[in-house]
Amino acid sequence: MKKFKKKFKFSSQKWLDRNNKDKYIKLSKEFGFRSRAYFKLQEVNRKFHIIKNNIKILDLGSAPGAWSQLIGTINKDGLNFAIDILDMKNTYNVKFVKGDFTSDESKLKINTFFEDQKIDLILSDIAVNTTGNKNLDSIKTNLIVIDVLKFSSLNLADNGKIFFKFFNGLESETIIKYVKKNFSTHKILKPDSSRKASKEVYMLCSC
Ligand SMILES: C[S@@+](CC[C@H](N)C(=O)[O-])C[C@H]1O[C@@H](n2cnc3c(N)ncnc32)[C@H](O)[C@@H]1O
Repeated sequence: MKKFKKKFKFSSQKWLDRNNKDKYIKLSKEFGFRSRAYFKLQEVNRKFHIIKNNIKILDLGSAPGAWSQLIGTINKDGLNFAIDILDMKNTYNVKFVKGDFTSDESKLKINTFFEDQKIDLILSDIAVNTTGNKNLDSIKTNLIVIDVLKFSSLNLADNGKIFFKFFNGLESETIIKYVKKNFSTHKILKPDSSRKASKEVYMLCSC
């Protein structure tokens, strides 16, 4: 028990130190962004201009809502739909539904919202809520990513794009194989605001 307490104290102190130094957390607080994730999407959008006005955008794993904040302000006249297993506060111009993306019910709600029309941009920042076992978490997230990719292949518009997070490791080969087979272009990206120590990487694919 003592040992556990000591270890816990050490790791929580490390977490606090890291967060105090993190410039993206400071900037998020300063500008009222809901999480530091805002900067990842902003950086990729500045380079690739994936978010436009008057299009259809789906934000998967959207809570607490930083990506939704960004899409809602740029895609002012289009349709934005966000979904997460956790609750999310309302965001300007974005329809949020609480639910598990992998369920048929959630997929039906997405298609109904877009009136069965194709989607221009799918974003997925889904990461399973942590169990404490990083390898297991990565595998579980990557399995959901494969489901996201299958849904995207069926529901993206002709010039549609998907920008999603996955984890280097088990199942990432399956993701890369799937993408090569089903999308015309793909780029693996590691935004500056993504922590260097994290195995998370992002991929941008076009139909
Ligand atoms: C890193 S956070 C997303 C941060 C978000 N992009 C933002 O800008 O605030 C990952 C989210 O994925 C969600 N998630 C995990 N599994 C999910 C699933 N099966 N369906 C929907 N959301 C899921 C988690 O609840 C968590 O809120």
